[in-house]
Amino acid sequence: MRSKRFIAMAMVSMMALSMTACGGKTEEPATTEPAAETPAETPDAEPAADAAEDTADAAADAAGAGGNIGVCIYKFDDAFMTTYRNALQEILEGKGYTVTFMDGKNDQAEQNNQINNFIAQEVDALIINPVMTSAADQIITTVKDAGIPTVLINREPTAEQMAAYDKLVYVGCDARQSGTMQGELILDTENKGDINGDGKISYIMIQGDPENVDAQYRTEFSVKALTDAGMEVEELDLQRGDWDRNKGQEIAQNDLAKFGDEIEVVFCNNDDMAIGALQAIQAAGRKVNEDIYLVGVDALDAALNEVANGNMTGTVLNDAQGQAQGAVDAMEALLGGATYASGEQSIYVDYVKVTPENVADFQ
Ligand code: BGC
Repeated sequence: MRSKRFIAMAMVSMMALSMTACGGKTEEPATTEPAAETPAETPDAEPAADAAEDTADAAADAAGAGGNIGVCIYKFDDAFMTTYRNALQEILEGKGYTVTFMDGKNDQAEQNNQINNFIAQEVDALIINPVMTSAADQIITTVKDAGIPTVLINREPTAEQMAAYDKLVYVGCDARQSGTMQGELILDTENKGDINGDGKISYIMIQGDPENVDAQYRTEFSVKALTDAGMEVEELDLQRGDWDRNKGQEIAQNDLAKFGDEIEVVFCNNDDMAIGALQAIQAAGRKVNEDIYLVGVDALDAALNEVANGNMTGTVLNDAQGQAQGAVDAMEALLGGATYASGEQSIYVDYVKVTPENVADFQ
């Protein structure tokens, strides 16, 4: 469904089958069947979209014959991006590409050098997880000047920024959806998050890196889901945990010491921070789903286990596999000659709510 949606948006040029953009290697791909991994259920797909998809698929197959791909990750030491990186590696290598991954070490200057090095090495395409969303303009100018087809992932620039280059696509998720789902997980509990029955939901918010739109939207929309449902809310604390487990643990520990039983809900913008918060919750003698609720985002393996064990109220699948597949599909469409019109350069993969009832489907 995902690749169909994005390919339908691609404006595929008839020159797509030219392989000049892919000057690299000639080894046979181990597999060239991305469609097998994407369910064929798009009831709303239109014939024109199907035609565009067929052309894009053909282009993608042609481009899949190999090539040198540079991948820049904002930092390797990020739990979710590690899962995502592994998925990318498996898909790209499985298709016969030669892939080099670079660790940006959370340093934009370092990542800029890595991008320039990839350009000097004349890679066929780039997949970039920017360190700073605010650096998007500079990154886009650089890859455009070099004429390298580029897929941005995980940290979304604005549509206006992307419009500068028609061989550029963003593949990610709409973070508003994940925030809303976190709020819904709380609304689905027996007391709608109001454990002490005082008529309001008292929460702490452990935020990711606030420079990242995922952190901004998850923070906003998780609470908005509660207020939209008519609930009163009280924010006891909001602090940045920078997506990091240790920071999640520290913030939760301090807040539990300060606010004690007042805290009914712990919202974490991601699972790694939620796992840290859980350590603090357990150390404070609190019991998730009995006297406190805890939700994250990502569906990391560790979080799925805690949801299954009743130690997390729920999480939201941030589909690393689906996004990696979408990124590779988009890259291949670009390699095949596709260009993307302004306003059609963002490709979204859906989030999915994970609860004790359906967690087994994700493990
Ligand atoms: C994930 C976080 C991750 C961040 C990195 C988010 O979408 O939920 O776990 O740290 O991306 O940018």
